[in-house]
Amino acid sequence: MSDQDELRYKKLQMNNGRSIPALGFGTLIPDLGETSRATRAALEAGFRQFDCAERYRNEEAVGEAIQGVLREGGIERDALFIATKLWNNHHRPERVGPACEASLARLGLEYLDLYLIHTPFAFHPGDNQDPRDQNGNLLYDHDVTLLDTWRALESLVDDGKCRAIGLSDITLNELRPLYDAARIKPAVVQVEAHPYLPETELLGFCKEKSIVFLAFAPLGHGMKPGLLEDPVISAIAVRVGKTPAQVLLAWAVQRGTALLTTPRSEAQARENFGISALPEDALDQINRIQTRHRLNPVVSTGVPGFIPQGS
Ligand SMILES: NC(=O)c1ccc[n+]([C@@H]2O[C@H](COP(=O)([O-])OP(=O)(O)OC[C@H]3O[C@@H](n4cnc5c(N)ncnc54)[C@H](OP(=O)(O)O)[C@@H]3O)[C@@H](O)[C@H]2O)c1
Repeated sequence: MSDQDELRYKKLQMNNGRSIPALGFGTLIPDLGETSRATRAALEAGFRQFDCAERYRNEEAVGEAIQGVLREGGIERDALFIATKLWNNHHRPERVGPACEASLARLGLEYLDLYLIHTPFAFHPGDNQDPRDQNGNLLYDHDVTLLDTWRALESLVDDGKCRAIGLSDITLNELRPLYDAARIKPAVVQVEAHPYLPETELLGFCKEKSIVFLAFAPLGHGMKPGLLEDPVISAIAVRVGKTPAQVLLAWAVQRGTALLTTPRSEAQARENFGISALPEDALDQINRIQTRHRLNPVVSTGVPGFIPQGS
């Protein structure tokens, strides 16, 4: 296997004895038809790790694409790594099992490779994903703790519904006590990370505790101006004969994280899967970038930054 193949097929060991492909496809795509098409294109390009969420309201469209490919043969369920996430209105322990079952049914799966608590913020329990008072303020639920919710996820592992559990949009200060109290330790932590938000301290903690750090928005959510047009990234891309997107994705994998990217077209899917290793001096140059910019405020509010309000 060449160096190029090694990077694109790299897997990270999880603390449950299983592994996760480093290159992952994120399904945060508002249009349902586009979700199915992009998911299929990602499978055909070589992606085997998929990130879904109840909150994206498109698990059925993702499931449709995955089921189609499984039915046609050639790819087995065991070769895929499929994750989805519990949304904030289901944090009460009695709501966790039914929420997981509902996600499994929408995806057409019998088990999940990974189930994540989408954010540490509990919202008012009920069917409304975005519960608000008359003044438009979010209704948080202060009668359930993150550990209560975690205990319910641990039961799902015991029952074989999911093989690994983890957390998303969490800070190191919130992660430490949860980690200490957990019977089943988090296998994966999913947060925004890219050269403008390297999250070095959190990454260090995850490496020390054998937690896989799963970076979302590795291309800076495709925003321009932004990372894709950063002069350091562009210059490296020219030097190594790769695109800025490929440089950013290779950097993420080479620093020891898994990642989630969202190519929208077949061409972007092939491009984003077609990474190869960068030389050490290029990695150093990227690590020296001083710009700092968080794109998604979800970590401080529980409100997703990339989903249109009201949906
Ligand atoms: N836990 C959380 O709260 C959370 C929050 C956000 C995201 N996520 C997950 O992380 C995934 C990835 O996040 P993200 O969508 O921000 O990832 P990203 O890969 O940084 O950005 C995706 C956007 O970049 C553009 N793009 C993709 N490939 C490109 C390429 N080769 N060249 C140029 N532009 C390219 C596309 O925009 P155009 O269509 O404009 O080209 C696409 O919409 C999501 O799908 C979701 O699964 C999780």
